[in-house]
Amino acid sequence: MRNVSVFFKAFVLIVFHGLLTSQALCQNPLWIPPIEEGPIFYLSEDSSSKEFLSGIQTPTYGMNGNFLAPTLIFQKDEWVQLQVTNNLSELSTMHWHGMHVPAETDGGPLTPILPGETWIVAYQVLNDAGTYWYHPHPHGQTTAQVNMGLAGMIIVRDEVESNLNLPRTYGLDDIPLIIQDKTFDENGALLPIGFGDTMMVNGTLNPVSDVPAQMIRFRALNASNGRAYNLGIEDSVNMYQIGVDDGLLEQPILVDRILISPGERVEFLLDLSQHEGDTLQLMSYGSEMPMGVTGSDVVAGVPGGMSPLNGADFPILHLQVGPPSGDSIMSIPDTLVAPYIIPDTSEVDVVRTITMTGGVGGPAVPGFLFDNTPFDMAVVNHTVTLGDTEIWEIVNETILAHPFHIHDEEFFILDRNGIPPSEQEQGPKDVVLVLPDETVRFIIQFEDFADPEISYMYHCHILPHEDEGMMGQFLVLDSTATMDLMDEKNSQISVFPNPNEGFFTASMKNWNGEQLTLRLMHITGSLIEERIFPGSYGEFVTSFAVPELAAGVYLLEIGLGKERKTIKILKQ
Ligand code: C2O
Ligand code: CU
Ligand code: CU
Repeated sequence: MRNVSVFFKAFVLIVFHGLLTSQALCQNPLWIPPIEEGPIFYLSEDSSSKEFLSGIQTPTYGMNGNFLAPTLIFQKDEWVQLQVTNNLSELSTMHWHGMHVPAETDGGPLTPILPGETWIVAYQVLNDAGTYWYHPHPHGQTTAQVNMGLAGMIIVRDEVESNLNLPRTYGLDDIPLIIQDKTFDENGALLPIGFGDTMMVNGTLNPVSDVPAQMIRFRALNASNGRAYNLGIEDSVNMYQIGVDDGLLEQPILVDRILISPGERVEFLLDLSQHEGDTLQLMSYGSEMPMGVTGSDVVAGVPGGMSPLNGADFPILHLQVGPPSGDSIMSIPDTLVAPYIIPDTSEVDVVRTITMTGGVGGPAVPGFLFDNTPFDMAVVNHTVTLGDTEIWEIVNETILAHPFHIHDEEFFILDRNGIPPSEQEQGPKDVVLVLPDETVRFIIQFEDFADPEISYMYHCHILPHEDEGMMGQFLVLDSTATMDLMDEKNSQISVFPNPNEGFFTASMKNWNGEQLTLRLMHITGSLIEERIFPGSYGEFVTSFAVPELAAGVYLLEIGLGKERKTIKILKQ
């Protein structure tokens, strides 16, 4: 069985090389996406076409262009406004991957942008300097839309990073690398499948980058549908990894391989000062990848796993090293950022376990899921209390490695099967690759944003898995719901805890003196209990005890004079 597959693979490789040589011989200058700076960003999702293969117009999607999207430059702490216009003939969304933003602005599947509509959001940039990205997230259509070209990079800058002696001239010594594998069908159309057979960086096939002989910073983003890469430089030029998903590492680390799975970002430096005139290759060493990783020799139990690139070592980018530029960086800082303060496990409020299940029948049987439960737009899988520190324990019971991604907050990996992560992962992350038979624990703090209605997502970042239901939702709820009754009078009501077990207290300040009415109701509006406080004035509390109610959402209507307002109560 194994031998047959190896032969088959060799055969495919030969045919495939035959097909590619005509394209492969011509190297193309690496396209650098244009920069957009805020505070207002206008993005339009358009359908278009691009000539990847000579003489063939491939249908594509792009933002403000025919493929991919501009690189957005954000400054930490600034407010940005993003106006996303959907000019496609299908529903879309726009998600700011890695950005810590309120749920309603996060752009998950619950906030669609209909064709012809413009979605306008504004948020404050709270993330540290790092490499983030944006892409659509419509449930069931993410693979198709990202595959067609909707993905762009976000670079966050901050004071700490700006004070470091690091390369940061975009496109010159600070190079974005949006790494994707694609499959073209016989008509040149892009197939929305998990593995491609053709590599591209920034939409450029067989790319070559002219770089000066000095320190060069690369920001690699794996925006592939499903493939992971094992980055390295041919002839073992030293790579210094300086960053992970959501920020810089505490210090540069000398590495010769960087494994990057879908959704992840890494920043690394190459010291090219001694390489003027050389040609180097940024490679992916698939032959050295752990089994079960998408891109290794054995994927989901299948040798050669569905693509000639699997298990292979292949170039991602050619580097042609020219003379150094004027003001070049020639050294590497010893330290980058102050040590991260990782919450102590004794401060943890909740431990959740999420198990990756399904797919045991191999790739022909889809259905990788979390906890055997497919994603449902109408079901909230987890409820988190604002302010809590949690441990998420991700157990992989499948034979495939899955990149687990969570929206809203970054996390720190505590351990993999009980062993602390390597230095390469000791930084803020939002995607973690969980190997077969592995349990990864990470610690995460839910701060700043609560929303009783719009949840955040967690999902596998292998896009076909996400589309097929390997995704869940979590709500972040404020344990105290506070509402102004009459703003000008400073009258207020707070309900806590919320969510609750059916016991909760309403604390009121009423400087109005009119009758105050509390009505606890089913979501349908039918009354459960009513309390009337005639002519109440001052501060007072009242408690409810309704443990008999089924778990779910209830409404507490507050009436003061002619005003009517409602607070959602979540019974657990
Ligand atoms: Cu990159 Cu839920 O997304
Ligand atoms: Cu995301
Ligand atoms: Cu998966």
